[in-house]
Amino acid sequence: MNEAWRIEGGFGPDKLARGPHDPGEPGPGEARVRFTAWSLNYRDALIVAGLYNPKQKLPLVPLSDAAGVVDAVGPGVTRVAVGDRVCPAFAPAWIDGRPSAEDMRSALGSPGDGVAMRARCLPASGLVRVPAHLSDREAASLPCAATTAWNALFELGAIKPGETVLVQGTGGVSSFALQFAVMAGARVIVTSGSPEKAARARALGAFETIDYRKEPRWGERARELTGEGVEHVIEVGGAGTIDQSLRAVRAGGTVSVIGVLAGPAGPVPLTRILMTGVRLQGVFVGSRAMFERMNRAIEAAALRPVIDERAFGFEELPAALARMQAGAHQGKITLGAS
Ligand SMILES: NC(=O)c1ccc[n+]([C@@H]2O[C@H](COP(=O)([O-])OP(=O)(O)OC[C@H]3O[C@@H](n4cnc5c(N)ncnc54)[C@H](OP(=O)(O)O)[C@@H]3O)[C@@H](O)[C@H]2O)c1
Repeated sequence: MNEAWRIEGGFGPDKLARGPHDPGEPGPGEARVRFTAWSLNYRDALIVAGLYNPKQKLPLVPLSDAAGVVDAVGPGVTRVAVGDRVCPAFAPAWIDGRPSAEDMRSALGSPGDGVAMRARCLPASGLVRVPAHLSDREAASLPCAATTAWNALFELGAIKPGETVLVQGTGGVSSFALQFAVMAGARVIVTSGSPEKAARARALGAFETIDYRKEPRWGERARELTGEGVEHVIEVGGAGTIDQSLRAVRAGGTVSVIGVLAGPAGPVPLTRILMTGVRLQGVFVGSRAMFERMNRAIEAAALRPVIDERAFGFEELPAALARMQAGAHQGKITLGAS
C-alpha cells in the first residue's frame, strides 16, 4: 500500500498521521525508490516536536533516512537502474565540495518532505548505492548519522592512526564515530550514562569508558587517561557538555560540534580556546561524495552498523520516536522488516 506519515495541524507526536500517498511516476532525471527500511535521528524527534525549525511549514512528511530499491526511472537516468538498492543522501542536492544554501535546504524531512513514506520519486543524482553486505535496516542507518561521523573524523578531522578520540554517549552518531575511529586505528574513549551500554561500547573497541553521571568532570578524567588530552572530541551534547569537551581536548586538537542533546546555547570559554589553539569545527552531515567514500570504507572493513535491539514496523513510527526521546536505545533506531 502507498502511504506516508505526515505531521498535520500542529506539532507533537499526537499530530503524526498515517494516510495514503501516491508516489507518482518519475520525471526526467528522477528515480522512484520503494523503501524497505527507515532510521531515526534525534533531529526527527525535534522536527516532530516543532523544536527544529521555527519557520517549518506543515503538513510535512518527516524522516531523512531510508533504504530501498529503485522500481522505476525517468527519462535520461543512467546513474541508477531498476533493482538497485539505494539510500537518498541526507541533502540530495549537495553532491560534493562545500554546500550552498540551496544544497542545505534540500535536506530531507525539513524544510521539505522526507522519506516516511512507502515510495518516493527523487533526483537520481541524490541517490547512493548501499554496501552489498548490509541488511535493509543497516543500510537505512547510514545517510545522516554515519555520514556526519565520517565527515567529522575523516573529511574535516583528518584523523590519523594512534590518535585518541572522545565520543559522547552511545547514540547513532556516536556509535558510528566509535566504529570509524577504531577502523582508523585510533584509541577511543566513550562517555555513557549507562553501564550496560558502556560494556557494549568496549566490546566494539573502546579502550576506556567514563560514566558521565558518576563523573561529571569526565573531561578531566579523559585528560588523565591520555596525558595531554584527546586529539578529537565528537561533541553531541552541546551547551551541557562543551566545557568538559574543552577540558578533554589536547592543545591543537579538534572539537567537532555536532549536536545539542544537552542544550543549544551557553557561555563559550574563549580564553581557553585561544590559549590552547583548539579548533571548534561545526559539522553539517555531509555531501553525496562523502557518503560514497564512507560506503567504500564500510565495504572494505565489512563494518556492520550498531542497530538498536528493538526493531519497529513502519506503522510504529510514534513508538519508535518515544524510544528515542527516552534515550533507551543504543546505536540506530530502525523501522522495517529486515
Ligand atoms: N550536525 C549534524 O549534522 C548532525 C547530524 C546528526 C545528528 N546531529 C545531532 O547530534 C546529536 C546526536 O544525534 P543522534 O541521532 O546520534 O542522537 P541519539 O541517537 O538520540 O543519541 C542519544 C544518546 O546520546 C547520549 N547523551 C544524551 N545526553 C547526553 C549528555 N548530556 N551527555 C553525553 N551524552 C548524552 C546518550 O547516550 P548514553 O545513553 O550512552 O549515555 C543517548 O542515548 C543530536 O543533537 C542531533 O541533533 C547533528
